[in-house]
Amino acid sequence: MLEITRYVLWGSAGHAKVLASLINLRGGIVVALFDNDPQAEPALSGVPLYFGLEGLKRWADDQATPHSFRGIAAIGGARGRERVVIHQHFRDHGIQVTSLIHPSASVCGTASIGHGTQVLAHALVAADACVGEACILNHRAAADHECVLGNGVHLAPASTLCGCVEVGDNVLVGAGAVVLPRLVIGKDTIIGAGAVVTRNIPEGVVVAGNPARMVRINVSKSP
Ligand SMILES: CC(C)(COP(=O)(O)OP(=O)(O)OC[C@H]1O[C@@H](n2cnc3c(N)ncnc32)[C@H](O)[C@@H]1OP(=O)(O)O)[C@@H](O)C(=O)NCCC(=O)NCCS
Repeated sequence: MLEITRYVLWGSAGHAKVLASLINLRGGIVVALFDNDPQAEPALSGVPLYFGLEGLKRWADDQATPHSFRGIAAIGGARGRERVVIHQHFRDHGIQVTSLIHPSASVCGTASIGHGTQVLAHALVAADACVGEACILNHRAAADHECVLGNGVHLAPASTLCGCVEVGDNVLVGAGAVVLPRLVIGKDTIIGAGAVVTRNIPEGVVVAGNPARMVRINVSKSP
């Protein structure tokens, strides 16, 4: 008998709906949601929602085979560091962290994708690109040839990294932004929606516009 793959998601908001529809498309089902916010509502009807690490522990203790479940963080925005931490919590409870690749996405055979990374509809990971763990390549995002992405990077919808761009951990590249070839983006930086990045960008800043200029320091950067 064909076994249905069961998933658990951390994050009970819009991104959970996106991942659940991809999981369903892949023939799997979401069986539990987790969220840190006690005010969160279940994002998926009929799927129970548990709160915080205590909720994860309670849920895992009730399962005969936690390792038969797959887990992935369903939180977007500039929260890549949280995705990395959540994946570790899943592993600590015996849950396998999984990657998800939409059937319409194009991932070149010479590219590599880290654990817990999501490549959504019509996204591109081109030749020899190397994508870290817990990244999101949102719909129609592109990491062109030889790009190197750290962990927890989010390429928002329709953003484009031209060839050979290097992106540090936890960077958010906003929707529709373009980063020109061979540039380096420092970790914990946010690139505004629609920006055109023409120069290297240091770590821990927010840039926006065309050409992209610094708007402010990113106060939520790593300690
Ligand atoms: C760049 C960004 C991070 C700035 O956010 P913020 O610090 O809260 O900035 P504010 O909204 O207070 O705006 C500050 C100034 O920058 C301007 N600005 C904000 N975002 C901008 C953008 N993307 N491009 C150009 N200018 C922008 C604002 O108009 C404002 O200008 P003003 O001071 O002249 O009025 C945010 O606007 C953004 O683009 N985020 C990316 C969103 C995204 O793509 N998410 C992915 C979801 S899947």
